[in-house]
Amino acid sequence: MIDRRFLLMNADLIRVYLRKSATFITLSGIVDKFRISGGRALHGRDSISGAKNSALPCMAAALLTPETVTLHNIPYVRDIITQRRLLEDIGATVLTPELRTHKITAAHVELFEAPYELVKTMRASVLALGPLLARFGKAKVSLPGGCAIGTRPIDLHLAGFEKFGAEVKLEAGNVVARAPSDGRLRGADIHFGKVTVTGTENLMMAATLARGYTTLRNAAREPEIVDLADLLNKMGARVNGAGSETIQIEGVESLGGAEHTIIPDRIETGTFIAAAALTQGELEIKDCRPDHLTSVISQLISVGVVIKEVNPTTLQVTCPDGLKAVNVSTAPYPEFPTDMQAQYMVLMTQAQGRSEIVETVFENRFMHASELQRMGAQIQIEGRTAIVDGPTTLNGARVIASDLRASASLVLAGLIARDETLIDRVYHIDRGYEKIEAKLRAVGANIERIIAPVTAAQSSEFNVQVTPTREQAEA
Ligand code: UD1
Repeated sequence: MIDRRFLLMNADLIRVYLRKSATFITLSGIVDKFRISGGRALHGRDSISGAKNSALPCMAAALLTPETVTLHNIPYVRDIITQRRLLEDIGATVLTPELRTHKITAAHVELFEAPYELVKTMRASVLALGPLLARFGKAKVSLPGGCAIGTRPIDLHLAGFEKFGAEVKLEAGNVVARAPSDGRLRGADIHFGKVTVTGTENLMMAATLARGYTTLRNAAREPEIVDLADLLNKMGARVNGAGSETIQIEGVESLGGAEHTIIPDRIETGTFIAAAALTQGELEIKDCRPDHLTSVISQLISVGVVIKEVNPTTLQVTCPDGLKAVNVSTAPYPEFPTDMQAQYMVLMTQAQGRSEIVETVFENRFMHASELQRMGAQIQIEGRTAIVDGPTTLNGARVIASDLRASASLVLAGLIARDETLIDRVYHIDRGYEKIEAKLRAVGANIERIIAPVTAAQSSEFNVQVTPTREQAEA
């Protein structure tokens, strides 16, 4: 048995060591798991962190200027650590005077590439492409990985760069892009064949330094797009229309430093609303932006969740009369988000009647369904539709998180399941939720993180179990 305190304090170090040393004595890995004892109603207050999906492009935007970009309300999640490492590898300096503030200065960029090792763990690394190409006239980014939810191409990003006059080639798994011979992109009129969030962000960033005017049509309208545009405009860019289908950008010669606060995470907010409703508790959710969740709130109200806006940044959630089945279909903002589909599915397992959940944004985004079925849920998948019959009692089980939002749904299921649920591979949830177990514990959930180094032979056994204190969890 390895000392618990040593493990907890050195978990990150051990993970790095294990990644680098395939032959490390007998340990084959260190894997965090969640153990949840279900059945407790959640009561109290939780605060929402900054939006990961806004912080990632805003961090990439810092590559557009040699001056310092200061970002506040950055969530403390793994994708942010990956993005920070990417910026530092490229040559930027990133200071964190406070845990959730990043001061990024990309004055001495020497490397114009995002390597496979980083990009494979996080698809949003591709956001380095637009800023690098626009400012330095060249960029090389490995083709992205990230969540295992369909093929997720980046063809629309690349077609856009070509319209800006760049030469784009695929070489040995990398995208290699070069600006025209004068080193500067040319503004263009671009129509996205499909709404793409990071595609819109990438081209919007590139257009800020392009020569002339750019129009992005059928652009994504997510609040994260508006947040990025706000930052870019603070840096001296001329972006109009963000939040609508048509964004117009007048290119400028250069951009400067700026200070900006990242918007609250609307998906974390939605996940906590679901947690309160499922456990029939009462949660006050602070520091959120209900106006970014209009479709989620109206859908959840239609199934029986009572959501009151205490003030413009606080919601109070209860579910006194149970849930009823209502169909939903995911679609780009402002419609119901694909990032809430898995959590909604758990709600529907507890709802009276049959509901159909149609996933229109991503293929292959129902991987959580089979894990929920193992817990007793009645779900049939027919193509892009999940048919859920409820209510069913969920039973604790050993389940595996397959992607970020799927993991959130398994945590929700664990909160209401009979007995104990053990969720494996919670590194997926750590990519996007800040200390979800600490936040849930603070409102009464019985959830703990288990840090377990395992040998190949012992991979099904846990020989070390650690429950961090509140201070340790928030460190
Ligand atoms: C972003 C979010 C992710 C969310 C998704 C949809 C970030 C960091 N991630 O991902 O959490 O689930 O939006 O709201 O913001 N597509 C193409 N070609 C392209 C680009 C996209 O065919 O070049 C397709 C995708 O395969 C998918 C759809 O368009 O079917 C939407 O994808 P997109 O909006 O690009 O998702 P991301 O920006 O990767």
